[in-house]
Amino acid sequence: MTTTVHEVVDVKTAQADKLPADLLGVGDFSPAQIAKVMDLAASVKANPGAYSGKLAGKSAVLIFEKPSLRTRMSFEIGLAKLGATVVFHDHSAQRIGQREIVKDYAKNLERWVDLIVARTFSHDVLAEMAAWSRVPVVNALSDLEHPCQALADLFTLREAYGSLEGLKLAYVGDGNNVAHSLVLACASLGVDVTVVTPTGFEPQFAVLKQAAAIAKGTGSKVTVSRDPKAIRGHHAVYTDTWVSMGQDHQRAQRESVMGAYRVSEKLMALASEGLDEAAVFMHCLPAHRGEEVTAGVIDGDRSLIYDQAENRLHVQNAVMLMLFGMD
Ligand code: CP
Ligand code: NVA
Repeated sequence: MTTTVHEVVDVKTAQADKLPADLLGVGDFSPAQIAKVMDLAASVKANPGAYSGKLAGKSAVLIFEKPSLRTRMSFEIGLAKLGATVVFHDHSAQRIGQREIVKDYAKNLERWVDLIVARTFSHDVLAEMAAWSRVPVVNALSDLEHPCQALADLFTLREAYGSLEGLKLAYVGDGNNVAHSLVLACASLGVDVTVVTPTGFEPQFAVLKQAAAIAKGTGSKVTVSRDPKAIRGHHAVYTDTWVSMGQDHQRAQRESVMGAYRVSEKLMALASEGLDEAAVFMHCLPAHRGEEVTAGVIDGDRSLIYDQAENRLHVQNAVMLMLFGMD
Protein backbone atom coordinates (compact mmCIF):
# COMPACT_ATOMS: atom_id res chain seq x y z
CA MET A 1 0.00 0.00 0.00
CA THR A 2 1.28 3.46 -0.90
CA THR A 3 0.14 6.63 0.84
CA THR A 4 1.00 10.16 -0.17
CA VAL A 5 1.59 11.68 3.21
CA HIS A 6 0.82 15.26 2.38
CA GLU A 7 -2.57 14.23 1.07
CA VAL A 8 -3.64 13.12 4.52
CA VAL A 9 -1.82 15.55 6.76
CA ASP A 10 -2.33 19.26 7.12
CA VAL A 11 0.01 20.82 9.65
CA LYS A 12 1.41 24.31 9.78
CA THR A 13 5.18 24.63 9.92
CA ALA A 14 7.19 27.45 11.37
CA GLN A 15 9.58 28.82 8.77
CA ALA A 16 11.03 31.78 10.59
CA ASP A 17 13.78 33.62 8.78
CA LYS A 18 15.76 34.13 11.96
CA LEU A 19 18.51 31.56 12.15
CA PRO A 20 17.98 29.13 15.06
CA ALA A 21 20.49 29.04 17.92
CA ASP A 22 21.08 25.32 17.46
CA LEU A 23 20.90 22.65 14.77
CA LEU A 24 19.19 19.70 16.42
CA GLY A 25 17.08 18.66 13.44
CA VAL A 26 16.77 19.60 9.78
CA GLY A 27 13.46 21.33 10.52
CA ASP A 28 15.25 23.87 12.72
CA PHE A 29 16.34 25.58 9.49
CA SER A 30 13.75 27.04 7.13
CA PRO A 31 13.82 25.90 3.48
CA ALA A 32 15.41 29.24 2.58
CA GLN A 33 18.12 28.73 5.19
CA ILE A 34 18.78 25.22 3.91
CA ALA A 35 19.06 26.56 0.37
CA LYS A 36 21.59 29.02 1.73
CA VAL A 37 23.56 26.19 3.35
CA MET A 38 23.75 24.53 -0.09
CA ASP A 39 25.07 27.66 -1.79
CA LEU A 40 27.52 28.51 0.99
CA ALA A 41 28.83 24.93 1.05
CA ALA A 42 29.49 25.15 -2.68
CA SER A 43 31.45 28.34 -2.11
CA VAL A 44 33.37 26.84 0.84
CA LYS A 45 34.23 23.80 -1.24
CA ALA A 46 35.27 25.76 -4.33
CA ASN A 47 37.25 28.42 -2.48
CA PRO A 48 38.35 27.16 0.95
CA GLY A 49 41.03 29.83 1.29
CA ALA A 50 38.37 32.53 1.48
CA TYR A 51 37.06 30.99 4.71
CA SER A 52 40.27 29.91 6.44
CA GLY A 53 40.65 31.63 9.79
CA LYS A 54 37.00 32.84 9.81
CA LEU A 55 36.49 31.12 13.17
CA ALA A 56 39.92 31.97 14.58
CA GLY A 57 39.76 32.36 18.36
CA LYS A 58 36.67 30.16 18.65
CA SER A 59 36.68 26.78 20.34
CA ALA A 60 34.43 23.74 20.06
CA VAL A 61 33.91 20.49 21.88
CA LEU A 62 32.88 17.27 20.18
CA ILE A 63 31.18 15.16 22.85
CA PHE A 64 30.33 11.69 21.52
CA GLU A 65 28.54 8.81 23.26
CA LYS A 66 28.91 6.58 20.16
CA PRO A 67 31.70 5.70 17.73
CA SER A 68 32.35 7.80 14.61
CA LEU A 69 34.72 8.06 11.68
CA ARG A 70 33.15 10.57 9.28
CA THR A 71 31.43 12.91 11.73
CA ARG A 72 34.40 13.22 14.04
CA MET A 73 36.94 13.64 11.23
CA SER A 74 34.88 16.10 9.21
CA PHE A 75 34.13 18.32 12.23
CA GLU A 76 37.70 18.20 13.57
CA ILE A 77 39.34 18.89 10.21
CA GLY A 78 36.61 21.31 9.16
CA LEU A 79 36.92 23.40 12.32
CA ALA A 80 40.72 23.41 11.98
CA LYS A 81 40.38 24.73 8.42
CA LEU A 82 38.24 27.57 9.78
CA GLY A 83 40.88 28.33 12.42
CA ALA A 84 38.96 27.11 15.49
CA THR A 85 40.33 24.96 18.33
CA VAL A 86 38.62 21.60 18.82
CA VAL A 87 38.58 19.19 21.73
CA PHE A 88 37.23 15.66 21.28
CA HIS A 89 35.53 14.34 24.41
CA ASP A 90 34.96 10.61 24.17
CA HIS A 91 31.83 9.91 26.20
CA SER A 92 31.35 6.30 25.16
CA ALA A 93 32.01 4.83 28.62
CA GLN A 94 28.71 6.18 29.96
CA ARG A 95 25.73 8.31 28.94
CA ILE A 96 25.69 12.09 29.29
CA GLY A 97 23.62 12.79 32.39
CA GLN A 98 24.90 9.77 34.29
CA ARG A 99 27.91 11.21 36.13
CA GLU A 100 26.21 14.57 36.54
CA ILE A 101 22.98 16.07 35.29
CA VAL A 102 22.70 17.30 31.68
CA LYS A 103 22.24 20.87 32.87
CA ASP A 104 25.64 20.79 34.55
CA TYR A 105 27.30 19.49 31.36
CA ALA A 106 25.83 22.39 29.40
CA LYS A 107 26.55 25.02 32.03
CA ASN A 108 30.18 23.89 32.34
CA LEU A 109 30.91 23.44 28.63
CA GLU A 110 29.53 26.87 27.69
CA ARG A 111 32.13 28.48 29.98
CA TRP A 112 34.98 27.06 27.86
CA VAL A 113 33.73 26.62 24.31
CA ASP A 114 31.78 28.55 21.68
CA LEU A 115 30.13 25.47 20.17
CA ILE A 116 28.99 22.04 21.35
CA VAL A 117 28.80 19.24 18.75
CA ALA A 118 27.16 16.24 20.39
CA ARG A 119 26.43 12.64 19.37
CA THR A 120 23.97 11.09 21.80
CA PHE A 121 21.76 8.05 22.09
CA SER A 122 18.81 10.10 23.28
CA HIS A 123 17.59 13.12 21.32
CA ASP A 124 16.03 14.39 24.54
CA VAL A 125 19.50 14.69 26.11
CA LEU A 126 20.64 16.75 23.13
CA ALA A 127 17.58 18.98 23.35
CA GLU A 128 18.09 19.43 27.08
CA MET A 129 21.73 20.35 26.53
CA ALA A 130 20.66 22.94 23.94
CA ALA A 131 17.99 24.32 26.26
CA TRP A 132 20.55 24.94 29.01
CA SER A 133 23.46 26.05 26.84
CA ARG A 134 24.10 29.64 25.81
CA VAL A 135 26.37 28.42 22.98
CA PRO A 136 25.05 26.64 19.88
CA VAL A 137 24.53 22.88 20.00
CA VAL A 138 24.85 20.88 16.77
CA ASN A 139 23.42 17.38 16.48
CA ALA A 140 26.15 14.98 15.35
CA LEU A 141 23.56 12.12 15.35
CA SER A 142 20.91 11.16 17.85
CA ASP A 143 18.30 8.42 17.87
CA LEU A 144 15.91 10.84 16.13
CA GLU A 145 17.98 12.72 13.53
CA HIS A 146 21.28 13.10 11.71
CA PRO A 147 20.85 16.56 10.19
CA CYS A 148 24.46 17.22 9.12
CA GLN A 149 24.37 13.97 7.14
CA ALA A 150 21.15 14.85 5.31
CA LEU A 151 22.32 18.35 4.42
CA ALA A 152 25.53 16.89 2.99
CA ASP A 153 23.52 14.27 1.12
CA LEU A 154 21.29 16.81 -0.60
CA PHE A 155 24.37 18.87 -1.44
CA THR A 156 25.96 15.76 -2.98
CA LEU A 157 22.83 15.03 -4.99
CA ARG A 158 22.78 18.61 -6.26
CA GLU A 159 26.42 18.27 -7.35
CA ALA A 160 25.75 14.97 -9.10
CA TYR A 161 22.80 16.28 -11.14
CA GLY A 162 23.78 19.97 -11.33
CA SER A 163 20.46 20.92 -9.72
CA LEU A 164 17.82 19.40 -7.43
CA GLU A 165 15.01 20.48 -9.72
CA GLY A 166 12.65 17.63 -10.58
CA LEU A 167 14.62 14.99 -8.69
CA LYS A 168 13.09 12.05 -6.85
CA LEU A 169 14.88 10.18 -4.08
CA ALA A 170 13.89 6.80 -2.66
CA TYR A 171 15.03 5.75 0.82
CA VAL A 172 14.85 1.98 1.31
CA GLY A 173 15.25 -0.02 4.53
CA ASP A 174 14.98 1.07 8.14
CA GLY A 175 13.04 4.28 8.84
CA ASN A 176 15.70 5.52 11.24
CA ASN A 177 17.49 8.74 12.25
CA VAL A 178 19.13 9.09 8.83
CA ALA A 179 15.80 8.52 7.08
CA HIS A 180 14.12 11.14 9.27
CA SER A 181 16.62 13.87 8.45
CA LEU A 182 16.70 12.90 4.78
CA VAL A 183 12.92 13.13 4.42
CA LEU A 184 12.94 16.57 6.07
CA ALA A 185 15.83 17.77 3.90
CA CYS A 186 14.16 16.54 0.70
CA ALA A 187 10.89 18.21 1.70
CA SER A 188 12.74 21.45 2.45
CA LEU A 189 14.50 21.52 -0.91
CA GLY A 190 11.55 20.48 -3.05
CA VAL A 191 12.84 16.97 -3.80
CA ASP A 192 10.18 14.23 -4.02
CA VAL A 193 10.96 11.52 -1.50
CA THR A 194 9.62 7.97 -1.24
CA VAL A 195 10.38 5.94 1.88
CA VAL A 196 10.13 2.18 1.45
CA THR A 197 10.28 0.14 4.65
CA PRO A 198 8.88 -3.09 6.05
CA THR A 199 5.90 -2.84 8.38
CA GLY A 200 6.96 -1.68 11.81
CA PHE A 201 10.07 0.12 10.57
CA GLU A 202 8.44 3.22 9.09
CA PRO A 203 9.77 6.68 9.98
CA GLN A 204 8.08 8.20 13.02
CA PHE A 205 4.69 9.67 12.17
CA ALA A 206 5.57 13.00 13.80
CA VAL A 207 8.52 13.35 11.41
CA LEU A 208 6.37 12.47 8.39
CA LYS A 209 3.83 15.07 9.53
CA GLN A 210 6.57 17.66 9.86
CA ALA A 211 7.92 16.76 6.40
CA ALA A 212 4.46 16.90 4.86
CA ALA A 213 3.90 20.36 6.32
CA ILE A 214 7.21 21.60 4.92
CA ALA A 215 6.49 19.94 1.57
CA LYS A 216 3.26 21.89 1.22
CA GLY A 217 5.34 25.03 0.98
CA THR A 218 8.04 23.71 -1.34
CA GLY A 219 5.98 21.52 -3.68
CA SER A 220 7.81 18.34 -2.71
CA LYS A 221 5.89 15.06 -2.48
CA VAL A 222 6.43 12.75 0.50
CA THR A 223 5.36 9.14 0.04
CA VAL A 224 5.65 6.06 2.23
CA SER A 225 5.32 2.51 0.98
CA ARG A 226 6.00 -1.08 1.96
CA ASP A 227 6.46 -2.15 -1.63
CA PRO A 228 10.06 -2.16 -2.96
CA LYS A 229 8.58 -1.62 -6.43
CA ALA A 230 7.65 1.90 -5.30
CA ILE A 231 11.24 2.93 -6.05
CA ARG A 232 10.57 2.79 -9.80
CA GLY A 233 11.63 6.05 -11.51
CA HIS A 234 13.76 7.59 -8.74
CA HIS A 235 17.02 9.40 -9.53
CA ALA A 236 18.66 8.39 -6.25
CA VAL A 237 18.33 5.29 -4.09
CA TYR A 238 19.49 5.68 -0.49
CA THR A 239 19.85 3.07 2.20
CA ASP A 240 21.40 2.77 5.66
CA THR A 241 22.30 -0.05 8.02
CA TRP A 242 19.44 -2.27 9.18
CA VAL A 243 20.85 -2.20 12.73
CA SER A 244 21.78 1.22 14.06
CA MET A 245 24.20 1.82 16.91
CA GLY A 246 22.61 0.62 20.14
CA GLN A 247 20.16 -1.76 18.40
CA ASP A 248 22.27 -4.93 18.39
CA HIS A 249 19.77 -6.77 20.57
CA GLN A 250 17.26 -6.41 17.69
CA ARG A 251 19.61 -7.72 14.99
CA ALA A 252 17.88 -11.08 14.34
CA GLN A 253 14.40 -9.55 14.22
CA ARG A 254 15.52 -6.78 11.87
CA GLU A 255 17.45 -9.05 9.53
CA SER A 256 14.46 -11.39 9.24
CA VAL A 257 12.26 -8.70 7.66
CA MET A 258 14.75 -6.51 5.78
CA GLY A 259 15.95 -8.98 3.13
CA ALA A 260 13.39 -7.84 0.53
CA TYR A 261 14.65 -4.28 0.96
CA ARG A 262 18.32 -4.97 0.15
CA VAL A 263 19.49 -2.55 -2.54
CA SER A 264 20.60 -4.83 -5.36
CA GLU A 265 21.43 -4.39 -9.04
CA LYS A 266 17.82 -5.44 -9.75
CA LEU A 267 16.40 -2.75 -7.49
CA MET A 268 18.70 -0.11 -9.01
CA ALA A 269 17.53 -1.13 -12.49
CA LEU A 270 13.93 -0.70 -11.33
CA ALA A 271 14.72 2.75 -9.92
CA SER A 272 16.31 3.72 -13.25
CA GLU A 273 13.26 2.75 -15.33
CA GLY A 274 12.06 5.68 -17.42
CA LEU A 275 15.04 7.90 -16.53
CA ASP A 276 17.58 9.36 -18.96
CA GLU A 277 20.49 7.89 -17.01
CA ALA A 278 20.90 5.23 -14.31
CA ALA A 279 19.92 6.16 -10.76
CA VAL A 280 22.70 7.01 -8.31
CA PHE A 281 23.25 5.08 -5.08
CA MET A 282 23.72 6.80 -1.70
CA HIS A 283 24.59 5.58 1.80
CA CYS A 284 25.68 7.54 4.88
CA LEU A 285 28.15 4.79 5.88
CA PRO A 286 29.23 2.66 7.66
CA ALA A 287 27.84 0.09 5.21
CA HIS A 288 27.46 -3.67 5.37
CA ARG A 289 28.03 -5.18 1.94
CA GLY A 290 25.70 -8.13 1.35
CA GLU A 291 23.21 -6.87 3.93
CA GLU A 292 21.44 -3.57 3.14
CA VAL A 293 23.30 -3.25 -0.20
CA THR A 294 25.17 -5.52 -2.57
CA ALA A 295 28.88 -4.93 -3.12
CA GLY A 296 28.20 -4.45 -6.84
CA VAL A 297 25.92 -1.49 -6.18
CA ILE A 298 27.87 0.28 -3.44
CA ASP A 299 31.18 -0.18 -5.24
CA GLY A 300 29.68 0.52 -8.66
CA ASP A 301 30.20 3.59 -10.84
CA ARG A 302 26.86 5.20 -9.82
CA SER A 303 27.72 5.15 -6.11
CA LEU A 304 28.17 8.57 -4.47
CA ILE A 305 29.27 7.34 -1.05
CA TYR A 306 32.71 8.95 -0.89
CA ASP A 307 31.41 12.26 -2.24
CA GLN A 308 28.80 12.19 0.54
CA ALA A 309 31.56 11.62 3.11
CA GLU A 310 33.72 14.43 1.72
CA ASN A 311 30.82 16.84 1.57
CA ARG A 312 30.10 16.42 5.28
CA LEU A 313 33.09 18.71 5.84
CA HIS A 314 32.06 21.48 3.43
CA VAL A 315 28.41 21.47 4.46
CA GLN A 316 29.14 21.44 8.19
CA ASN A 317 31.58 24.31 7.74
CA ALA A 318 28.83 26.23 5.97
CA VAL A 319 26.43 25.48 8.84
CA MET A 320 28.95 26.61 11.46
CA LEU A 321 29.77 29.80 9.56
CA MET A 322 26.06 30.57 9.45
CA LEU A 323 25.51 29.79 13.14
CA PHE A 324 28.33 32.19 14.02
CA GLY A 325 27.10 34.83 11.56
CA MET A 326 30.39 34.61 9.65
CA ASP A 327 28.95 33.62 6.27
N1 CP B 1 27.84 8.80 8.43
C1 CP B 1 28.34 8.99 9.65
O1 CP B 1 27.84 9.78 10.45
O2 CP B 1 29.45 8.25 9.93
P1 CP B 1 30.15 8.12 11.35
O3 CP B 1 29.24 7.34 12.25
O4 CP B 1 31.45 7.40 11.06
O5 CP B 1 30.39 9.49 11.91
N1 NVA C 1 21.53 4.85 11.45
C1 NVA C 1 22.95 4.73 11.76
C2 NVA C 1 23.71 5.85 11.15
C3 NVA C 1 25.19 5.82 11.37
C4 NVA C 1 25.88 7.01 10.78
C5 NVA C 1 23.12 4.69 13.27
O1 NVA C 1 22.46 5.45 13.98
O2 NVA C 1 23.92 3.88 13.74
